[in-house]
Amino acid sequence: MKTKVAIIGGGPAGHLLGQLLQNQGIDNIILEAKSKEYVLGRIRAGVLEQSTVDILREARVHERMEREGLIHEGFKLFFKGRSERIPFKELTGGKIMMVYGQTEITRDLMDARETSGATTIYEAENVTPHDFHGGSPRVTYEKNGETHEIHCDFIAGCDGFHGVSRRSVGAENITEYEYAYPFGWLGLLAEVPPVSDEIIYCHHEDGYALCSMRSKNRSRYYIQVPIDEKLEDWSEERFWAELKRRLPTEVAQRLITGPALEMSIAPLRSFVCEPMQFGSMFLAGDAAHIVPPTGAKGLNLAVCDAKTLFDALEDFYQTGSRTKLNDYSATCLDRVWKAARFSWWMTTLFHKLSDNPFHRKVQLAELEYTMSSMAAQAALAENFVGLD
Ligand code: APR
Ligand code: PHB
Repeated sequence: MKTKVAIIGGGPAGHLLGQLLQNQGIDNIILEAKSKEYVLGRIRAGVLEQSTVDILREARVHERMEREGLIHEGFKLFFKGRSERIPFKELTGGKIMMVYGQTEITRDLMDARETSGATTIYEAENVTPHDFHGGSPRVTYEKNGETHEIHCDFIAGCDGFHGVSRRSVGAENITEYEYAYPFGWLGLLAEVPPVSDEIIYCHHEDGYALCSMRSKNRSRYYIQVPIDEKLEDWSEERFWAELKRRLPTEVAQRLITGPALEMSIAPLRSFVCEPMQFGSMFLAGDAAHIVPPTGAKGLNLAVCDAKTLFDALEDFYQTGSRTKLNDYSATCLDRVWKAARFSWWMTTLFHKLSDNPFHRKVQLAELEYTMSSMAAQAALAENFVGLD
């Protein structure tokens, strides 16, 4: 087989890149290790920056998002019995956020791809990129016991943190920066109306709590737990009781509980690899970087990478210039590190970091300072809605 761009991984990064290329008639194939149903069954992020919304519009997968997505103009911030609000739209000259699940974006992209007739190979086993430093880049995979080979101009490694693309690069060509936080998030998804029509970030002396949503009838809640916490030790009742305990009383009283559609524990990690280009292979999304979810940046970074890579590939196929391709890594990493910094800062500000009361005192001082300073609020708001 032959194609222009072989895309490894069919999450949001891979599917969006495929869609943008397909719209411009640039031939591509997606190789995904799991089944379509499995990919659509994963519960993931769901808070989109204005620029992500704009890119999804450009990709022509915006109709359902615009019908069903919830526009947000601010978020709430609770600490030490205080209830505050960051009006980020007002503070950023009109930028909004949109709540629309990553799973829904992936579904819209899959539907568009099916309509376009482009090839996606699901349940592709042993996907392996070859010769991306040489003159004959290609990807091999196995399906139904047979080995196949795809010759291509470029390989896009969009296969997430545990994927094969980054692992295929020799250690001498890559630098990895990593920090694992000593806590995780216990999340619960339930078919109940959200406790607030805006996202709530809650600082509590026993640990952080987050109230979010996927729609007007579907809520997503999280509480900070120790890194070695076992999911089987958490009944739904225990989760709801602990969430209520961390929220201000008047909010806890309004909380509507219901059966969990999903409950899971996710570790928190910061990770960046440099560079993001290795000859004719380019990494995008979680394959190249992970941020802790506190600032809701992971999906937005993946979308920006896919768009940046698409722009560079389009320029190459239209003009023959490799300038944008050669700049890909530097262009992405500039934004990635700023998002890594913001996500680390938000995480450090809200979570219980240790039993040392010094940490809590400094956090409360910073939260109080943020609420008393328009400059600090503006800095928080402009990072939250996404830097240009
Ligand atoms: N071969 C083929 N596909 C693979 C392989 C492999 N060896 N390894 C992983 N994959 C697939 C996974 O099954 C998954 O569908 O690659 C896809 C990667 O998708 P995501 O993990 O969703 O990563 P990405 O597209 O970069 O999106 C980032 O996901 O975790 C969130 O916070 C993150 O919201 C962000 C988004
Ligand atoms: C979510 O809805 O899953 C969510 C919202 C805000 C965050 C992180 C996750 O900061």
